[in-house]
Amino acid sequence: MDRFSPSFLFLFSLLLLSSAFASSIAELDADEPLIRQVVSSDDGADDHELLDADHHFSVFKSKFGKTYATQEEHDYRFGVFKANLRRAKRHQMLDPSAVHGVTKFSDLTSSEFRRQFLGLNRKLRLPADAHKAPILPTNDLPTDFDWRDHGAVTGVKDQGSCGSCWAFSTTGALEGAHFLATGELVSLSEQQLVDCDHECDPEEYGACDSGCNGGLMTSAFEYTLKAGGLEREEDYPYTGTDRGGCKFDKTKVVASVSNFSVVSTDEDQIAANLLKNGPLAVGINAVYMQTYIGGVSCPYICGKHLDHGVLLVGYGSSAYAPIRFKEKPYWIVKNSWGESWGENGYYKICRGRNVCGVDSMVSTVASIHTTSH
Ligand SMILES: *[C@@H]1O[C@H](CO)[C@@H](O)[C@H](O)[C@H]1NC(C)=O
Repeated sequence: MDRFSPSFLFLFSLLLLSSAFASSIAELDADEPLIRQVVSSDDGADDHELLDADHHFSVFKSKFGKTYATQEEHDYRFGVFKANLRRAKRHQMLDPSAVHGVTKFSDLTSSEFRRQFLGLNRKLRLPADAHKAPILPTNDLPTDFDWRDHGAVTGVKDQGSCGSCWAFSTTGALEGAHFLATGELVSLSEQQLVDCDHECDPEEYGACDSGCNGGLMTSAFEYTLKAGGLEREEDYPYTGTDRGGCKFDKTKVVASVSNFSVVSTDEDQIAANLLKNGPLAVGINAVYMQTYIGGVSCPYICGKHLDHGVLLVGYGSSAYAPIRFKEKPYWIVKNSWGESWGENGYYKICRGRNVCGVDSMVSTVASIHTTSH
């Protein structure tokens, strides 16, 4: 790719800039006790740091109900926790308009985190009959929009320790499309997708939607189209494992797919499709999400490798970022890690330059009115 080296140089100079910038940011955030602890951890006050890490680990364990089977496991997790404090500090430096710190994932290494809590399988390609969304007019888009204000979004769910993000992104988009088609908001079954959707890439053998081991939203739309639809959440509840076998009962289908399409990477087209068709299924690079607490995530550097499937539900034009960051337009992203993560389960990521790849894999689905049984 011819863009590679100039964009690398650009990012590199941003990195240099940001590390100079970041030390003053750290002081700005000094009233946030956790960040203060985290950012001061390189300042040499070893005893103090150790005491603080101990204290933060105890708070972490009681807040998230963590217990470890053996002393060895406990000590190992404490080591990982301390490494994650340093990581949160680095994220804070590179992403100053968000707040990074201790989350419920702070005792996991980044590879454990990726394996257990993400689950987008990028090896899967788009199904052959996925078409491109038509180009929509963008001249009268509102400056702020949030499908939560219009009743199209169910409560935040929790995928647990299972790489099934793709199933939650899929149900979220179909819940919205079903709401637009019927006026009814119905929570849909991820477990049906985890157990029954083994849709494969038509060309690449071996890349299939595979339960807790990952999948892709467009192939899940394809499965749902072929299967006839999805059951309600309560009729086919989530277990967070993929060993139960498929228990799909076609007579219980409540929402079906009429068609789905891939949206262009243009941000105005993404916004226009969001408004017209409801919440959108998107892929994202989740590296900053392990330490995210709140604010608008707008890292100077973030991979474009997509490893997580989430739901785009709205956007805004300005946020309560510290004053010196001025206005930061952002996307509102519904995640599937429960309400105890992020901003009540949500993530804000800045709009404008495909940050963390958020604009690069967007799909939309339409539903039809099905008679309920
Ligand atoms: C579904 O198909 C119709 C007709 O071709 C098209 O206008 C609409 O944009 C499609 N919707 C989605 C979500 O792909």
